[in-house]
Amino acid sequence: MQKIKEMIQTISKVFEAQDFRQYRAFDDVDLDVVMGQTRYRIAEREDIVSFLAIERDVYGGDTPWTFSHFEHEIMTNDLAIFITAEADGKIVGFIGGRVVPENNSVHLSNLGVSSAFQRQGIGSNLVKRLAELMRQLGVDSLTLEVKRNNLPAQAMYRKLGFETKEILPGYYENAQDGLWMVKQLAAIGDKQAV
Ligand SMILES: CC(C)(COP(=O)(O)OP(=O)(O)OC[C@H]1O[C@@H](n2cnc3c(N)ncnc32)[C@H](O)[C@@H]1OP(=O)(O)O)[C@@H](O)C(=O)NCCC(=O)NCCS
Repeated sequence: MQKIKEMIQTISKVFEAQDFRQYRAFDDVDLDVVMGQTRYRIAEREDIVSFLAIERDVYGGDTPWTFSHFEHEIMTNDLAIFITAEADGKIVGFIGGRVVPENNSVHLSNLGVSSAFQRQGIGSNLVKRLAELMRQLGVDSLTLEVKRNNLPAQAMYRKLGFETKEILPGYYENAQDGLWMVKQLAAIGDKQAV
């Protein structure tokens, strides 16, 4: 919890220095929310082992991110955030975002939902939670890259209002193309970001 407080303070300071709009107090930001049967809360170091298991599950045994990648984002990087989804008493999904102060945007760094819990809206809710938290902090847009052949993820992002802004030729390993997708977050005062 201390880390998220620091992250929010850092983001606020960066934006204040750039004369962006006024940021809200830490207490106003929703960090722990229950939607349906699933709880969405700020990730902790102890969650990383479960995140790696989810990666192995959804990427055929591979873990594109190592323990250290997750640890850096969750414990060290003040401009990064991870949210954990918990259902049936276990961790079933995660999302990561990294704030890019120069663009007043947040970049989706990683997202996964256990295969047994997919198609229940958890992936969408994770994106919505990240978007809403960032909107509360005053961030304007959410950006991401996705493999051109990852049609399930693209379908989800489109449903959530993301638009493809650019094709990234050969962006991924094995020269696979990527798509650059962007979603504007609603203005402060609106009820939901997405
Ligand atoms: C992409 C991913 C996070 C989606 O998680 P999820 O919890 O299943 O997503 P949702 O239930 O919110 O799906 C929302 C919509 O996206 C689309 N969608 C999701 N998975 C789909 C699939 N396998 N095939 C077709 N459409 C799909 C559907 O339109 C779905 O709505 P519907 O179920 O009402 O038809 C999940 O499939 C996953 O972890 N994939 C592997 C990792 C990955 O690709 N991460 C993203 C990297 S950019």
